[in-house]
Amino acid sequence: MTDTGITGTGTDWQAWQDSWDRQQEWYMPDREDRFRIMLDMVEALVGRAPRVLDLACGTGTITARLLARFPEATSTGVDLDPALLAIAEGTFAGDDRVTLVRADLKDPDWPAKLPHDSYDAVLTATALHWLHSEPLAALYGQVAELVRDGGVFMNADHMIDDSTPRINAAERAQRHARMDAAKEGGALDWAEWWQVAAKDPVLAEPTARRFEIYGEHAEGDAPSAAWHASVLREKGFGEARPVWCSPSDTLLLALK
Ligand SMILES: C[S@@+](CC[C@H](N)C(=O)[O-])C[C@H]1O[C@@H](n2cnc3c(N)ncnc32)[C@H](O)[C@@H]1O
Repeated sequence: MTDTGITGTGTDWQAWQDSWDRQQEWYMPDREDRFRIMLDMVEALVGRAPRVLDLACGTGTITARLLARFPEATSTGVDLDPALLAIAEGTFAGDDRVTLVRADLKDPDWPAKLPHDSYDAVLTATALHWLHSEPLAALYGQVAELVRDGGVFMNADHMIDDSTPRINAAERAQRHARMDAAKEGGALDWAEWWQVAAKDPVLAEPTARRFEIYGEHAEGDAPSAAWHASVLREKGFGEARPVWCSPSDTLLLALK
């Protein structure tokens, strides 16, 4: 369990999950497609009862979808954010398939906090662009050690190809125009979502702590899919390539 100390009796955790999803979907309308393909590839490569590490799990988005589709799976969620972990803790309370761990993925010793030293699948989404390339490459070395032989790592995230600046600019302009239109319809952005969390009696305290840890948002890089694949191979994966992409995002799979 986490050290958030939140009990939250009476809190509607599913409502927080739903509002987190709406906020994230404002940035990524095809977010659920990424998760569907991610779980298709889990099934294809490691079966329907995997031991999963949900890396930078946030509210446990991947874990929730994993368990809904594969009830015999188990999941360890790891994240540093006390407020998002409080939502995860409330959501999965009493479910012994789920363990939540609070750790900083930039801390070299974070894997020691995990309940297992080997996983069938390490899955992550919309998170590793919070890290700069150097710590991310170091993290990939640790992930390669945590994935068993024949196991998989998948990362769904913004992966920017700097060799296509005009395509990138056009895609970005269109995406932002659509986001602006959705905003007119009442969608909450990242900053507004956190303002709501800060006013919640249960989430106010862990939200204040998360702002002390991160500020508004950590700074990081969004290297290309080719960079991710190449570093993952260097770190010990046998194969790595995108298995899905949208104009702005990629789901990259590495097989040990
Ligand atoms: C945008 S959220 C995505 C959460 C979830 N994977 C999802 O798709 O909804 C990014 C997550 O990365 C986590 N994160 C970023 N840097 C981290 C670090 N150094 N250690 C642990 N977690 C980190 C944040 O706390 C946050 O929960």
